[in-house]
Amino acid sequence: MSPQASGVEDRAPGANADLPSRRSALGLFAGAAVAAPATALAAGPALASDRPPAMTPAALADADLDLPSPSLRELAERRGLRIGTAIHDPAVFASPRYAAILAREFSIVSPENVMKWDTVEPEHGLADFTAAEHIFLPTAARNRQLVRGHNLVWHGQLPSWLSRTWTSAQLASFVQAHVTDEVTAFRGRIFAWDVINEPLNEDGTLATNIWSTAVGPDYIATALQWAHAADPHARLYINDFNLEAIGPKSDAMYALVKGLQQRGIPIHGVGFQGHLDVRFPFPSGMAENLQRFAALGIDVAVTEADVRMPLPVTPAQLATQTSYYSQMLSAYLTVPDPVSFTVWGFADAYSWVDGFFTGEGAATLFDKNLHPKPAYFALRDILTA
Ligand code: G3I
Repeated sequence: MSPQASGVEDRAPGANADLPSRRSALGLFAGAAVAAPATALAAGPALASDRPPAMTPAALADADLDLPSPSLRELAERRGLRIGTAIHDPAVFASPRYAAILAREFSIVSPENVMKWDTVEPEHGLADFTAAEHIFLPTAARNRQLVRGHNLVWHGQLPSWLSRTWTSAQLASFVQAHVTDEVTAFRGRIFAWDVINEPLNEDGTLATNIWSTAVGPDYIATALQWAHAADPHARLYINDFNLEAIGPKSDAMYALVKGLQQRGIPIHGVGFQGHLDVRFPFPSGMAENLQRFAALGIDVAVTEADVRMPLPVTPAQLATQTSYYSQMLSAYLTVPDPVSFTVWGFADAYSWVDGFFTGEGAATLFDKNLHPKPAYFALRDILTA
């Protein structure tokens, strides 16, 4: 992962004529969540309620959390959007405070790892979706949270069996089966899928990976069609990092989406991951960039926001982090019809950053003790204004 640069009609014209509008889909899922699992959840072949988790996290009263009211999710709801987080499954039972903050503050969730290919098909031909059914989906249903599915076609977190010797035709059939089987398994329970994850190089060229090689450079369009056939009601996204600024990578994504729309390929959204670092400038032109994508008639969402810093934390770095989170949300709110602003984990104690960037961390909204940091209060202020 590179650091940030320097380091409607709510459908595509001509595409997805059978899809409900994004607004009605949001409404459907919101209603389903209230009544879960009787409506939308029941549409899936395997109900979350069929396999309840073995334990229920201890409830923490609002007073014990000592967080201000209204919550982020309530403030966002008043503005017609959702605030999200990735869920780190082990934390849900390890920390009652984590579980309570997750329930209180967020209205849309992404699985940090449990829907990735290495989890759902660890052995060739042995599809296993129980990890998501065990904690992630029941937690989302209990919390009345929409679900972003993450992710289907990526070069990362692939099962080891894929690295054996296979022909391109075999690999192409595997990825088609993977997309079809996973989307089908969760059909009716996923609001939006990150169908394609991280397809572009920093210079805007298409990254060469196992899927561009096996299926061909048009694998993006092909995978979107597979996903659409398996669940015509899910919003289908391409998701990438370092897309926030106007530059070669976001220009290339813009051209890619426009080309897909012109061909009638089902593309409904672009996810801007938003992994920032205080050591680099804030991405220039983020608001204008998001607006030009929204003008294509697709959803734009911030999908994985966090702001890392060299450790130890200093007051100056914390101030920059607060400013970057604020600028990201403010830029996002300039989009005419915002959908969701998601952080990639909300707790420093469970963030992916510390394990990936030597000497860096403290990237989220809550500190190691799950107490809110200045960025949390800043996001509240922006949503309140
Ligand atoms: O599950 C194994 C476990 O069996 C093993 O014992 C352990 C030993 O290291 O590893 C465990 O797997 C780890 C996995 O997370 C689950 O915890 C992997 O090592 C670790 O590499 C993996 O990291 C994930 C990373 O994606 C992998 O690329 C992070 O948790 C996850 O937050 C991160 O998420 C990505 C998004 O999907 C795409 N955008 C970037 C984002 C951050 O990298």
